[in-house]
Amino acid sequence: KRVDIQVDQLDKGGYEHYMLKEIYEQPTTIEQSFKGRIAVDGKSIVLGGLIDVMPQLVKAPRIIILGCGTSWHAGLVAEYLIETYCRIPVEVEYASEFRYRTPVINKGDVIIAVSQSGETADTLAAIKKAKEDGAIIIGVCNVVGSSIPRETHAGVYTHAGVEIGVASTKAFTAQVTVLTLMAIQIAKEKGSIDQSEYEILIQEILEVPNKVRVALSKEDKIKSISDKYSDAVNALYLGRGYLFPVALEGALKLKEVSYIHAEGYAAGEMKHGPIALVDDNLPVVAVAPKDHYYEKVVSNIQEVKARKGNVIAVLNEGDLNLKEMVNDFIEIPSCHPAISPLVAVIPLQLLAYHIALNRGCDVDQPRNLAKSVTVE
Ligand code: G6P
Repeated sequence: KRVDIQVDQLDKGGYEHYMLKEIYEQPTTIEQSFKGRIAVDGKSIVLGGLIDVMPQLVKAPRIIILGCGTSWHAGLVAEYLIETYCRIPVEVEYASEFRYRTPVINKGDVIIAVSQSGETADTLAAIKKAKEDGAIIIGVCNVVGSSIPRETHAGVYTHAGVEIGVASTKAFTAQVTVLTLMAIQIAKEKGSIDQSEYEILIQEILEVPNKVRVALSKEDKIKSISDKYSDAVNALYLGRGYLFPVALEGALKLKEVSYIHAEGYAAGEMKHGPIALVDDNLPVVAVAPKDHYYEKVVSNIQEVKARKGNVIAVLNEGDLNLKEMVNDFIEIPSCHPAISPLVAVIPLQLLAYHIALNRGCDVDQPRNLAKSVTVE
């Protein structure tokens, strides 16, 4: 029997779109980004590309993280991690702003440039400027040998493989994985983390691929939720702590592929504006696993419900209390708060994908967007 397979379909590994294929690759790509960097006994991390600059990182008076788009969101996750575990002040800046400001760079400051392509013009120009001012530049890039890694003093590749979908998915989780390894390794070398907490976090990282598989298994449920909200004009995404950047990333994914206006907000900031938008037409995606902020996010959800907003909650398996409160829910396995962005972002990627498909959008090549922005 003759089987007709188009070359295009082969590239997509049987998936309908690159975006979906790349979403599903994440258990593997996350593993690729930590594999070989975590010792087999799970007790230590080796980041070969940082060995030469580790003394400067440990002593750094400040770290500035630069990026654009999704890479900037990965940088925000790193800010929470580095401040928590390394006790080093961090600033996360849009490369496009940084390059034209007159930023204050002091002796010893370290810059981390995050870029999937390694070619983003603004990020490249920003690091060139910081380098002239004497900063140490570290790259977290995906494309090996691209322009940004060539300008840096040191770096760690993310090893997510080629990403074709314009809306970044697997590159984001690879960036967050690498930045997490970096944060806990700097903390370890600096002595600002206990050995036991260090090992717990390593163990949690090793468990991420399986937890991501569980999150991916909810796709049918996510698809049916997407059918209810595909006609929305606006959407609000809420999260706190490590999941605030995930709320921003969820909103960006929806915006990029479905063209629905979406905003991500730190849930505690909702009362200062976005709550005015809440009515029965507004879907509010609340990322609310049982972490430190759970009770506070639940009270934000109640505020939305009281104003007839429709809440889609990303919650932990078995959270009956919250399930009853919201219109729709997507379950994710529980994990350590510092690692939770890697798991919590998965349903948001799938939600954006299915809503965009329902609206007939070209998910792999959204209008007006480019995979790699090499011009200003
Ligand atoms: C473009 C892409 C985004 C990406 C951003 C930064 O806007 O469409 O997906 O996040 O550039 O790209 P970089 O390659 O520097 O991570």
